[in-house]
Amino acid sequence: MPESFFVLSKDYLELATDEITAIAKMYDRFSKIKIISNLVIVQSKTNGNEIVKRATFVKTSGQILRKMSGLFLDEENVGVLKNAKSFVCRVINLSSNQFNIPELESSMGDMISKFSHAKVKLENPDITVYLIFTNEENFFGFSEKHEDKKRPIKVKKYPHELEWKLTRVMINLIGLKKGQTLCDPFCGTGTTLLESESMGINAIGIDFDEKMCEISKENLKINNYKSKILKSDFQKLTKISDDFDGIVTDLPYGRSSKASDKPEEILKKFMSIMPKNKKIAIMYKQELDPKMKLKGLKKYQIYRHKSLTRTILIK
Ligand SMILES: C[S@@+](CC[C@H](N)C(=O)[O-])C[C@H]1O[C@@H](n2cnc3c(N)ncnc32)[C@H](O)[C@@H]1O
Repeated sequence: MPESFFVLSKDYLELATDEITAIAKMYDRFSKIKIISNLVIVQSKTNGNEIVKRATFVKTSGQILRKMSGLFLDEENVGVLKNAKSFVCRVINLSSNQFNIPELESSMGDMISKFSHAKVKLENPDITVYLIFTNEENFFGFSEKHEDKKRPIKVKKYPHELEWKLTRVMINLIGLKKGQTLCDPFCGTGTTLLESESMGINAIGIDFDEKMCEISKENLKINNYKSKILKSDFQKLTKISDDFDGIVTDLPYGRSSKASDKPEEILKKFMSIMPKNKKIAIMYKQELDPKMKLKGLKKYQIYRHKSLTRTILIK
């Protein structure tokens, strides 16, 4: 079975590794995952590029050619270069050893040039061959040229809006599939709706503030997205629960946005009406954790600044 590798940024490492696992399992529940620090190896029938298209924190990715026993590559190993005009070699050192990386990359390039017609090209080559060192195992891998992901455009912003990366990761952690529908009952500027539609997931946004509904609509329109926006209190979601498969939302914090009640009261009420049998990812201020004692599959703590740490709860 093909193996793909993903080198993740270390900003939110636990979220990042769990996200890759969730996406891989969503596409193929028999996927096997191995995590070595910020390197994730996935054995799956799903092409790694499909996983990368959804994932938020991938810095580098490709397919594993083989585990490395010595430093030698032969013609058979670089069959991937058969139709390539250009290639480059890159060393990813995730081990605690020190290597002379430019020297290694250049000698690997020389080695490959002996049995391939492809020429070394440092920028945007057809194929990148990777040599990956970790403290446990070492690998040869490769990736093909690919286009950068298109990001949704946001024309209207607001101070309380959620970073798109955290929104996207929440959607992926609950494993919503293309064609399914998500609901954000506190949609604000529409960040969740934009991320959702950019992954082919339909979305319904609810916000009780007219101004926020208008901002969301404008943000959707510029991207030609079709999410529905309902100007209503969040409790509307109980009436439309047959229309969506999961909830991803960022609850009010009691600052910079209007709120119908205190954050604690809203969270309490929200938890009491939350539809059963739906996938749910919510974010709220961590201060509420000791009072609320909410339980779920997993909790993540996201530090923003001295006076704001947020909790992501997956149910
Ligand atoms: C933290 S903001 C959400 C930000 C959003 N994730 C974004 O990226 O723009 C919370 C939102 O909840 C809305 N809100 C507050 N109380 C509400 C209620 N009772 N029902 C629905 N929406 C409410 C506010 O208008 C605000 O837009």
